[in-house]
Amino acid sequence: MKIAILGSGGREHALTFSISKSNKVEKIYCIPGNAGTSELAENISLDINDFKSVYEFLKRNNINFVVVGPEDPLVNGIVDYLEKLDIKVFGPNKIASQLEGSKIFTKKLCKKYNIPTAEFGIFENADDSYRYINNAKHPLVIKADNLAAGKGVYICREKNESYLAVKEIFDGKFGTAKNILFEEFLEGEEMSYFIISDGKTFKNFGSAQDHKRVGEGDKGKNTGGMGAYSPSRLFNEELEQKILEKIIKPTLKGINDLGTKYKGFLYAGLMIVKDEPFLIEYNVRMGDPECQTILPILNTDIIKIFQSCVDEKLNEIEIKWINKKSLCVVLCSNGYPDKYEKNIIIENFEKLSLNEKNYLFHAGTEKKDNKIYAVGGRVLNFISISNTYSEAKKNIHENLKKLNWEKGFFRKDIGYKVIDK
Ligand code: AMP
Ligand code: GLY
Repeated sequence: MKIAILGSGGREHALTFSISKSNKVEKIYCIPGNAGTSELAENISLDINDFKSVYEFLKRNNINFVVVGPEDPLVNGIVDYLEKLDIKVFGPNKIASQLEGSKIFTKKLCKKYNIPTAEFGIFENADDSYRYINNAKHPLVIKADNLAAGKGVYICREKNESYLAVKEIFDGKFGTAKNILFEEFLEGEEMSYFIISDGKTFKNFGSAQDHKRVGEGDKGKNTGGMGAYSPSRLFNEELEQKILEKIIKPTLKGINDLGTKYKGFLYAGLMIVKDEPFLIEYNVRMGDPECQTILPILNTDIIKIFQSCVDEKLNEIEIKWINKKSLCVVLCSNGYPDKYEKNIIIENFEKLSLNEKNYLFHAGTEKKDNKIYAVGGRVLNFISISNTYSEAKKNIHENLKKLNWEKGFFRKDIGYKVIDK
């Protein structure tokens, strides 16, 4: 089989790595990929939101199967577009992708199907929003409705912050805003929970805890994710039953009731409050860096899993896992998530110990003249799988020391809640 993977981050390098281990695969293309994927696949420089160019490339190269990494093309309907042209694609269609594309769509679905989530209100203009804020309890959570790469969420401690959030959203900071979402602030601990679905059956695809804040102790600005560990320390069978019965099953029923099916990964961002799960958000893809953290412990051919989803035969497959803990630390460019330099050389890759326990997945990197440059904020993902999280952390830190990249930084406390000091 010839496979194309769409995307260029750490998640897509991890997917490329897992797919490259499948004996069903003869060639992989990454559109556009990064320096890491270029070791395993052919990188193709195309805009993944230009569906026509993507299709023409697939057709010209007889590519049979497409795996979509990031949310934008999914929300914009790439699956519907390619399926109509007889290309097999792993990922949810446009209707189902609204679970990530529109927070208000998801909130309404939660209300209709009684899915536990933060209390909420929706307003259509700034004046109504200001009036609401005047009497609202704080902290208050304010969200832009559209895709905003994780940036359209404000946790407002006091009224002035809330007024500013409303102004920024209606001024169009995240694109034209037809409405705005207000949410009750939930106090608890977050957990990422994943399933994979073929529209008829679904299976667990792991859990993780992501560290989204830039600073140690989970302080400072939100980022794309500074590191993660899997499984989440909160995970247990009793909690999983609640997540499935109260959140996942009613959601999939809601999508079925719209006359369609959910196919692909579904990522539930949960807040666990006193052992009860609340849905914070859905993503219609794997998490990043959760994907890099989880795939090294997958012990089943991932292409077999993806094919079975597309063919609606997931019930025929058993997904096996290696019984280990996995930790991932993200190495970022100095300055991230604010301004950072681009095109900085990274050396010493040959010094790293990479094997069946220790992995390196690239994110914002590019290869030029056989040298590797950092071109993004999140640059490299170091993963280690082990019997204990502390052992995994030790292995990662040894590799980070060997790389010794002075232009970057990483959080030294990833997994602090599961690692004794
Ligand atoms: P979202 O993009 O909706 O996942 O929000 C980004 C982050 O904001 C989440 O990962 C949470 O840390 C935080 N957050 C979002 N909604 C709430 C809420 N209702 N209560 C507390 N924290 C929240
Ligand atoms: N790890 C957060 C995300 O992928 O959205």
